[in-house]
Amino acid sequence: MTDTTPATSTYAWWQKGIVYQIYSRSFQDSNADGIGDLRGITTRLEYLAWLGIDAIWLSPIYTSPMVDFGYDVSDYTGIDPMFGTLDDFDAMMKRAHDLGLKVIMDFVPNHTSDQHPWFIESRSSRNNPKRDWYIWRDGRNEGPPTNWLSEFGGPAWTYDPVTFQHYYHAYLAQQPDLNWRNPDVRAAMHDAMRFWLDRGVDGFRLDTIEHLIEDNQFHDNPPNPDYESRMPPASMLIRRYTTNQPDIHEALMGLHAVTDTYPNRALIGETYLPLEQMVGYYAHGIHLPFNFNLIGATWTAANIAQLIKRYEALLPAGGWPNWVLGNHDRMRIASFIGRAQARIAAMLLLTLRGTPTLYYGDELGLQNVDIPQHRVQDPWEKNLPGLGFGRDPVRTPMPWDATPNAGFTTATPWLPLNADWQTRNVAAFQCDDSRMLALYRNLITLRKNEPALSIGAYGKITAQDDVLVYERVHDGRTLCIYLNFDAASSSIKIARPATILLSTRTDRIETDITRQLDLQPNEGVVTVCAATPSEK
Ligand code: GLC
Ligand code: CA
Repeated sequence: MTDTTPATSTYAWWQKGIVYQIYSRSFQDSNADGIGDLRGITTRLEYLAWLGIDAIWLSPIYTSPMVDFGYDVSDYTGIDPMFGTLDDFDAMMKRAHDLGLKVIMDFVPNHTSDQHPWFIESRSSRNNPKRDWYIWRDGRNEGPPTNWLSEFGGPAWTYDPVTFQHYYHAYLAQQPDLNWRNPDVRAAMHDAMRFWLDRGVDGFRLDTIEHLIEDNQFHDNPPNPDYESRMPPASMLIRRYTTNQPDIHEALMGLHAVTDTYPNRALIGETYLPLEQMVGYYAHGIHLPFNFNLIGATWTAANIAQLIKRYEALLPAGGWPNWVLGNHDRMRIASFIGRAQARIAAMLLLTLRGTPTLYYGDELGLQNVDIPQHRVQDPWEKNLPGLGFGRDPVRTPMPWDATPNAGFTTATPWLPLNADWQTRNVAAFQCDDSRMLALYRNLITLRKNEPALSIGAYGKITAQDDVLVYERVHDGRTLCIYLNFDAASSSIKIARPATILLSTRTDRIETDITRQLDLQPNEGVVTVCAATPSEK
């Protein structure tokens, strides 16, 4: 039989590889101010190489007033002094590349800081040449121009008494939206991207791209009949005229064209959209529109099987899938489904078809950390206190070892550490094969060694009781993954004899299975099927 599957080498690094998100403020402090920085990150790259990941994505390190912790950029080509200097950045990148790690920068195209010189000019007068770089509009009946809402609460318009108009901001008032219909804005942002591409960065994670362009007729958004009080107040309206507008295509294709003039660069897009809309971003030139559908998913085998199949069916030709369990904006996976199931989730993430993105600390089973009121940092929490939207609990410092402040800093960390940092830290876990870190590392090694996992196709995908079963196939080799979503044991009939390559449990003894696989509570296993005679 002729094998028509492409060779491993025809896949790009961002297809075969594994991405690791570093929340830059929380990885490693090097200058005793309690905040992580570039020199700190550089000293910890060896750990990431040891873990086996292929690329790091750094949350924003640009010059910023830090009202939204770097997602409010005041200079797209500067490094905030809190994180270091351009030289520190270059040194970090050199070390990463020497270790074989790609570097992906966060890029925030939708809005700038209100302290960005462009906005300062823009707000100075109605005739300023940069006026049209942002979205200014007259009010309506003494109020804002439309009913549009800010993602962080309150109206999305702020009145500026200097010129008697309102400006639009999808997020905080300190994050005015750029006007992407203006060619000068596009050109300026393209220049900023080239600045980093010329320095050798391997790609960008583009922040909140579905917000890039708004309706130019300024229609009101309709009420959302499905709104529930546990949702953010911005969800009271359907974002019909404020997200996912048709003109986004041209704007994103412009970013693609810039990136595409450099070899081997990747564009990842942040897209919180229903699957049907999210897959549309492949055609907008985004290599990996983030697939966030595991975050907050109904955690049953049947539902996840459904999700995989729906996603695969919706992917356009040539669209490469990807999966994510957590990030700096959403609840930690080990809090959402508990630590026992978080092991299953790790196995799922690293055996599904498509690029996995890991969130720092998940490899230690970190959970949401309780933040006392007086230490709250996140503006979302400050705007809407006590409603559970705060993101500080998932942004706490990486615990490295049992020395003071977990080796993260010699000062007071900007956010508290996990309460159990003295035992739950990298150094302690590196000496204990039963802990989450060893599972992550073993899964990463397995994924690297088994093309069936990194680039293979799916065989069958099913849910039997609460066990999710799927096959990954490449070059005549079939791996089968069984994930027990239940806290009870479960037995599964198997069609072909198989050998267990890896279990989420460290107490598994039996590895060769013939007719029936007995899974322990919360156990997941990766097996390799014996080749059938025709495959030999
Ligand atoms: C994205 C970021 C989030 C930020 C927001 C505004 O959703 O991930 O952290 O607050 O955009 O830039
Ligand atoms: Ca620091």
